[in-house]
Amino acid sequence: MAEWHIGVIGGSGLYEPGKLEDVQEIAVNSAFGEPSSPVLTGTLHGVKFTFLARHGAGHTRSPSHVNYRANVDVLKRCGVTDILAISAIGSLREEFAPGDFVAVDQIIDRTAGRERSFFGEGIVAHVPLADPVCPRLSDLAAKAGKKAGATMHDDGIYVAIEGPQFSTRAESHLYRDWGANVIGMTAMPEARLAREAELPYALIGMVTDYDCWRDSEEDVDVTDILKVMKGNGETARKMLGELAKALPKSRKASPIDTILDVAIVTPREEWD
Ligand code: ADE
Repeated sequence: MAEWHIGVIGGSGLYEPGKLEDVQEIAVNSAFGEPSSPVLTGTLHGVKFTFLARHGAGHTRSPSHVNYRANVDVLKRCGVTDILAISAIGSLREEFAPGDFVAVDQIIDRTAGRERSFFGEGIVAHVPLADPVCPRLSDLAAKAGKKAGATMHDDGIYVAIEGPQFSTRAESHLYRDWGANVIGMTAMPEARLAREAELPYALIGMVTDYDCWRDSEEDVDVTDILKVMKGNGETARKMLGELAKALPKSRKASPIDTILDVAIVTPREEWD
């Protein structure tokens, strides 16, 4: 029977996953450099979870300095079957209020200069990314979020900016015109790399602010973001518990598990 093993990447304000049973902290090496932190691995209601703090346990890595390749690689080496990212996001829509949760399903990538692929010279691969989020895991996580008491929104169209500065007002309006409804700094290249690692990826965003497009709003600042995140951390941890309880007993294969079968161009005999 195929078992679930959920890799959780915790963003700003979520540096630990709550009460895992049989928990172990493990420093895992990656061929792609230093991951952000050691992982915590254990079980929740009998389901395996492995947690990694995206910015480091003491929040020492900015979005531009997170080693996304090492983080995804480490989770893959730990044997996770799926990745659930939980991240602070800004809202570009009136109806997505601070404190609400959003299941992200599309991403516009405005990041620049980040290592965005495991492939390149030597082995060339082009994975499909039309739907960067796994609908199965996303639906399960969204339902779990609701059960945990969050106000949950679907259809999150996320624009990933490079940061570390927040957007200008003109950019914020532009992203709204593009159809984005939430904004953050980390979903890319994380989602790309998860796909290349054949790991279904879902992203639940926790709204911390209205960015700067709203006339009536104070400009976003980090103090407010951390205040909201602190309040949300407990709901996010409850969401993980609810997710563990709701996962089907056996994990059916996803097309993403074997996506490289249709993505690698370089013939096998060229690999070594
Ligand atoms: N993360 C949380 N709020 C944000 C915002 N307004 N812009 C970019 N990233 C964010």
